[in-house]
Amino acid sequence: MTFPHTRLRRMRRDAFSRELMRETRLHPGDLIMVAFVIDGSDRREAVPSMPGVERLSIDHSLNLADDCVALGIPALALFPSVEAQYKSADAAEAWNPQGLFQRAARALKARHPQLGLIGDVALDPYTTHGQDGLIDDHGYVLNDLTIEALVRMALAQAEAGFDIVAPSDMMDGRIGAIRDALENAGHVNTRILAYSAKYASAFYGPFRDAVGSSASLGKGDKHTYQMDIGNSDEALREVELDIGEGADMVMVKPGLPYLDVVRRVKDHFGMPTFVYQVSGEYAMLKAAAQNGWLDERSVVLESLIAMKRAGADAILSYYAIEAARWLRAD
Ligand code: PBG
Repeated sequence: MTFPHTRLRRMRRDAFSRELMRETRLHPGDLIMVAFVIDGSDRREAVPSMPGVERLSIDHSLNLADDCVALGIPALALFPSVEAQYKSADAAEAWNPQGLFQRAARALKARHPQLGLIGDVALDPYTTHGQDGLIDDHGYVLNDLTIEALVRMALAQAEAGFDIVAPSDMMDGRIGAIRDALENAGHVNTRILAYSAKYASAFYGPFRDAVGSSASLGKGDKHTYQMDIGNSDEALREVELDIGEGADMVMVKPGLPYLDVVRRVKDHFGMPTFVYQVSGEYAMLKAAAQNGWLDERSVVLESLIAMKRAGADAILSYYAIEAARWLRAD
């Protein structure tokens, strides 16, 4: 009779030894809540393709921020959903100091100065065509002209109190331009979270419903600026450029389908590396859970742990508050 010399099942036999050898743990401090803000007061609008997610007026956003603070979630990533009258070809509302987004930031920072606030820097909520940048007569997104708009937008956000500006547009050179502008304006501590490896993914559909850009975008797509889904060497080049231009954190997006990219980025650069569990990932998990096909708590926590195991330092998620509650209850 021969016996296995090493029995990996030995350590798995009891909860105590499984606990002791667990390599990766998830903590509310790893999570960033994502929320959509709308104008008006006492308004909450359901997002049909994201059951459980609502667009919130500023007053309700404050309650959501209360939950983040109470649960130990360090930061909130905010996206605006603006009405049609505020959309234009030049997206000028994006840097209006009295615009919804800037007002929301002032209110949130007044309520919770210690809660990190992340502003999205991209023009899509504000353009009539739903693209992340300014377009020419053929609908092509113009890189350098768009950067000028993004710089104005990032400055308006820093001015309003956003701690972190997060360019999600994928223009070339925007991190450097925003960094220079922030330094020149004295915003030396405003952090930049660069959406460095952002793929042209079909998993963003529900988000575009939430910010109201899907109708404007129509049959348009973002393949001329977001990354091709088949590439990963290119992700390293994107990250390298953004680091060189002054990014403080880099991000891979979407999350679960791109964890190989997260691992490569983390191993290669050792930068604070964030990952975004996007709207389509949320919708998939939620739909299966609502049908009784998957156990929501287990699959959500498993997905989030997988992201950390892949090398992510923090995770943006629509599930952040729920997940933090589950973790606290454990
Ligand atoms: C656009 C932006 C998108 C997301 C964040 N910022 C969608 C897009 O690129 O069309 C997607 C987030 C999600 O799906 O949850 N600047």
